[in-house]
Amino acid sequence: MSTDTTTTTFTQSPEPQVLRLRPKVDDALPLPPFKYAGIFDDPKFGDWRDELAIKGWTVVRRAVPTERALKYREEMFDWLESFPLGFKRDDPSTWTNEHLPVHMKGGMFHGYGFSHEKFCWDLRQEQGVIDAFAKIWGTDKLISSFDAGCIMMPKRIDVKDIGRWEHMDQSRHRRGFYCVQGLANLNENGPDDGGLMVLTGSSQLVEEYFDTFGRVYREERTFGAFDYWMFSEEEQQWFTDRGCKWVKVCAGPGDLILWDSRAMHYNVMPKGERDRVCSYICMAPAELLSESDRKLREDAFDKERGTTHVPERVPRTDKILQLAGIKSY
Ligand SMILES: [Fe+2]
Repeated sequence: MSTDTTTTTFTQSPEPQVLRLRPKVDDALPLPPFKYAGIFDDPKFGDWRDELAIKGWTVVRRAVPTERALKYREEMFDWLESFPLGFKRDDPSTWTNEHLPVHMKGGMFHGYGFSHEKFCWDLRQEQGVIDAFAKIWGTDKLISSFDAGCIMMPKRIDVKDIGRWEHMDQSRHRRGFYCVQGLANLNENGPDDGGLMVLTGSSQLVEEYFDTFGRVYREERTFGAFDYWMFSEEEQQWFTDRGCKWVKVCAGPGDLILWDSRAMHYNVMPKGERDRVCSYICMAPAELLSESDRKLREDAFDKERGTTHVPERVPRTDKILQLAGIKSY
């Protein structure tokens, strides 16, 4: 998930590595070694990958040119205003649930075909975004998640802040690196703005943590996805005792925030004056896709899963079909 969410993740089964949409929880699943599990074990890259490996997160500056990032932000607002609910980006009195389509945590939009809106596909095709993931995986033959986005308006008074939901988006059974999550940040985002909180250094320690305390399944620690686990405050103490610190990740419009799925994280609502707008993007090598999961993705792509709103149809270019995992490279 991404961030915040986990729309698309990999599941390792006794068969070859495959990509699944919302995998089922299966504690007994034997996990074969993952081809890329060790790529961050010896971080001597000399670029932002070192920070990603050591701290568990990094910011790739201006992966999207600023002007275009701000344009995508406006397009997301156009999308919100296209619902016949009365939302207006310039009228704070309309920044309420009554005037907004269904969302969660103060601004995360998963439904209405959001993932397949043109602005999402345009962002996934931004060369700087593809280049960042290509640098991580060592290939530009990538497939993209069909993930959600976030439009958090400041000073919301009709939504309750649910507080922290510290979690990682990787199964406690996995060994080593598995997934890098990303979000394209589309507005100036400082310490008081809504956004991503990461427990710096936790990605390097989770395996030792579970080796020490065990991997027993507890229903309250997951919402059902295989690659998800929540941590209590007491458990976090083990990490902070070892130097881990919570950091609010700040970024400018067009910056790509990346974090290792093993890094503990959650998001916060805006405390300041600015809206927080972003699109969640996660890419991985196309070679990991099995034929059955390619069909699943094709079905999700065709149905713009969950849509009740008429989205702009994206033209089915070769690049989009490749990133969707439908067409081979
Ligand atoms: Fe997450």
